[in-house]
Amino acid sequence: MYKSFYSLAKAPFSKDINPKDAYGSKDYQGALGALQYLQKSKGMGLLIGDPGVGKTFTLRSFRESLNPALYHVVYFPLSTGGVMDFYRGLAYGLGEEPKFRKVDLFRQIQQGIERMAVDRKITPVFILDEMHMAKDAFLQDLAILFNFQMDSSNPFILVMAGLPHLKSRLALNHHRPLSQRVIMKYEIQPLSREEVTFYLEHHMKLAGSKMPIFTEPAIETIATRSQGWPRVINTLTVNSLLFGFQMKKEQIDEEVVRMAIEDMGL
Ligand SMILES: Nc1ncnc2c1ncn2[C@@H]1O[C@H](COP(=O)(O)OP(=O)(O)OP(=O)(O)O)[C@@H](O)[C@H]1O
Ligand SMILES: [Mg+2]
Repeated sequence: MYKSFYSLAKAPFSKDINPKDAYGSKDYQGALGALQYLQKSKGMGLLIGDPGVGKTFTLRSFRESLNPALYHVVYFPLSTGGVMDFYRGLAYGLGEEPKFRKVDLFRQIQQGIERMAVDRKITPVFILDEMHMAKDAFLQDLAILFNFQMDSSNPFILVMAGLPHLKSRLALNHHRPLSQRVIMKYEIQPLSREEVTFYLEHHMKLAGSKMPIFTEPAIETIATRSQGWPRVINTLTVNSLLFGFQMKKEQIDEEVVRMAIEDMGL
């Protein structure tokens, strides 16, 4: 296996990377800062970015930073279920037995949120991931569902995350009731050229690498081809390690990376 060939303790870029092992890129920190602002002010926020730029990972870090005694997190990726499942899941998540009719369910969710926030002093945090997949009707529902007529502050935190075109969709006239309530917007940008080197070395160190395996030109090629998108860097790096191992190369050079790129059809 390439792991023992390159003296690695484990494969790099594990799916379940711990937030404490995050690489603190400028935008990772910026996005977390924006989410912390939302944590204080409460209400609705928007986190967007290209595929594989680190949205879900950042949301996981945010989620794990919240004190469970004060925040109740409901995470829902839109790719996994229908919207009725989501509403029912919300009711369940708030400790209620979901009502059957949508109108009753909505009232129940709103009351559940208020009870949790006011009586138990716990802030419900709703994280809706992959929101670019949301149908128009769902976006319109959200504007109704999260419309609280409370004097002081919002009793909830709602983060909507998705691809950049979500922002333009929300800007459309018929979504104004929702977009006007969004108080935080952050777009995660890809890693800069310099950050790609640090990111790659950071992950290789986490995998147990004791010395540089990638040559400078190899990293340069990875940086150019990946355009700084972490997920592409991950796959390209692992693929390069596989090819390097097959070719019995002690160091991954540009030639190996080029083979990996070709293999991936990039
Ligand atoms: N700051 C970081 N530190 C360490 N690893 C990171 C960081 N940001 C992103 N990653 C890595 O990049 C991978 C892809 O990120 P993620 O799944 O969060 O992207 P995404 O923006 O949610 O993509 P999609 O739009 O396809 O859902 C993560 O699994 C993780 O390995
Ligand atoms: Mg994601």
